[in-house]
Amino acid sequence: MRHPGLRQWVSEIAQLTKPERIVWCDGSEAEYERLCEELVAKGTFIRLNPALRPNSFLARSHPSDVARMEERTFICSRSKDDAGPTNNWIDPREMRGTLDRLFDNCMRGRSLYVVPFSMGPLGSHIAQIGVEITDSPYVAASMRVMTRMGRAVIDWLGDGGKFVPCIHSVGAPLEPGQQDVAWPCNEQEKWIVHFPETREIWSYGSGYGGNALLGKKCLALRIASVMARDEGWLAEHMLILGLESPAGEKSYIAAAFPSACGKTNLAMLIPPQALRGWKVTTIGEDIAWIKPGADGRFYAINPEYGLFGVAPGTSEQTNPNAMRMLRENVIFTNVAMTPEGDVWWEGMTDEPPARLIDWQGKPWTPQEGKKGRLAAHPNARFTVAATQCPSMDPQWEDPQGVPIAAFLFGGRRSSTVPLVVEAPTWEEGVYMAATLGSETTAAITGKVGVVRRDPMAMLAFCGYNMGDYFGHWLKMGRAVKHPPRIFRVNWFRRDAQGKFIWPGFGENMRVLQWVVERCQGRARGIETPLGTMPRFEDLNWQGLEKMSPAQYAELTRIDAAAWQDELKSHDELFEKLGSHLPAALEARRGRMHEKLAA
Ligand code: OXD
Ligand code: MN
Repeated sequence: MRHPGLRQWVSEIAQLTKPERIVWCDGSEAEYERLCEELVAKGTFIRLNPALRPNSFLARSHPSDVARMEERTFICSRSKDDAGPTNNWIDPREMRGTLDRLFDNCMRGRSLYVVPFSMGPLGSHIAQIGVEITDSPYVAASMRVMTRMGRAVIDWLGDGGKFVPCIHSVGAPLEPGQQDVAWPCNEQEKWIVHFPETREIWSYGSGYGGNALLGKKCLALRIASVMARDEGWLAEHMLILGLESPAGEKSYIAAAFPSACGKTNLAMLIPPQALRGWKVTTIGEDIAWIKPGADGRFYAINPEYGLFGVAPGTSEQTNPNAMRMLRENVIFTNVAMTPEGDVWWEGMTDEPPARLIDWQGKPWTPQEGKKGRLAAHPNARFTVAATQCPSMDPQWEDPQGVPIAAFLFGGRRSSTVPLVVEAPTWEEGVYMAATLGSETTAAITGKVGVVRRDPMAMLAFCGYNMGDYFGHWLKMGRAVKHPPRIFRVNWFRRDAQGKFIWPGFGENMRVLQWVVERCQGRARGIETPLGTMPRFEDLNWQGLEKMSPAQYAELTRIDAAAWQDELKSHDELFEKLGSHLPAALEARRGRMHEKLAA
């Protein structure tokens, strides 16, 4: 290790946190196996039946530590105004004091793992390096799945390469002789802290997902969004998929959806039988880093190397590619276990197995399921290498990225928002994206059906003032000669009986076909106050008899009264942003109001 800055930083953190030992992770297979064995011995991992789920493990987290915690997530910029009204802010000087107190001695009795990782193909001009210090072997093992991790990154850094320092502790020091628990965490205090100016991440008290695997939401979105603002690129909460037409033309689409809108399923879509001439491939399913290319187009990479996906709802019907991807080499967290030592979660099969052990390790039967007790936690997860996904695109590791033809923005809306609309201009597309809203699900807020404004699906992930972020998006449209076209989609509209009108999943291919053919200047549509929409005859209905023109009319109806209410609710967000709201968006809102009134 020839990097004095890195060595110095590790030694300073070790002096503060006082671990029992320091382990530099090399990223090897042997090291991963050792970590997993250690986790089995500690009781954090249960090895699943190797005949049914080879080389796979189940972890059960503490009930206080089951999801990202937005209310415990902080952007500590020097000025409160830079964090903006949509982020939690604490003065960085005060925060440093709190962190000094929290991290003092916090790793006692534990190992400190140094985890060097690359977000994006190592050496790509779009990639970034991070180093996570963690006292959780679960996190070290997960980081090997989720990122390009290990010795090659240290070699790449050389003696002075730049990296984002990420410090993580479960916040549960062990007294001499004290027995550890299966899922150490701090039940009293959890903090996920970002310093955007110095590009540092500190996380305390949680061992779960985005709170602890700091390359993902913390680095690749919150810190990267600040880098992107400063350096002229985009760090977005987007999947990236490839579409190959029957004629062999390839296009790439990046799509932003708030959590719990089926992003992973869309990224791995298998077209319906009648549209099998089309091929869908996956570049990424959660995050996209996008830079202007020399040819005037945007180029995107998936900075991740693995998936940390929601298990419940994943099935042969909703996502057969994911089911194949999960056959082996998976870390499951908070799913249920079968008596045979395999996994199960709600939605995996129509009928649950007769007996299960639930996510908290207690016996469970379908009778209890009928009373509403879930076998798997609704936010139960799988951690798996992207290389196991059967639909990965041959270009997915291309360090240059792939050219993006269209941006899609979608939310979960039971009314008001039509199936698909194309924005007439970049500016209008930015308005559509900025006012994106989605109905909450029980898994997010405990409340069902309330529309939460989630601009660009970045509400929880933008590391600076949301109004300035809108301004950055407007600017980026002028940074390239051929900006992608922007579309708004909604698969979730319901009829008067409360049933979904659009069949969803593989049938979404029909909308994707229209989108790419619009980009190629081939598909037709009609102008509406919202933008261009396909008429019934503009979509490919081959093999889908179920959809009648009347149903389609319901799916695409623009209800002027509902839109007046919708605009009012856009105003609430815009008012919050005050002087940071770009004037162009304010003006666009006014024009929409006029068009809808007419
Ligand atoms: C995720 C999320 O876990 O967006 O990806 O919440
Ligand atoms: Mn996400």
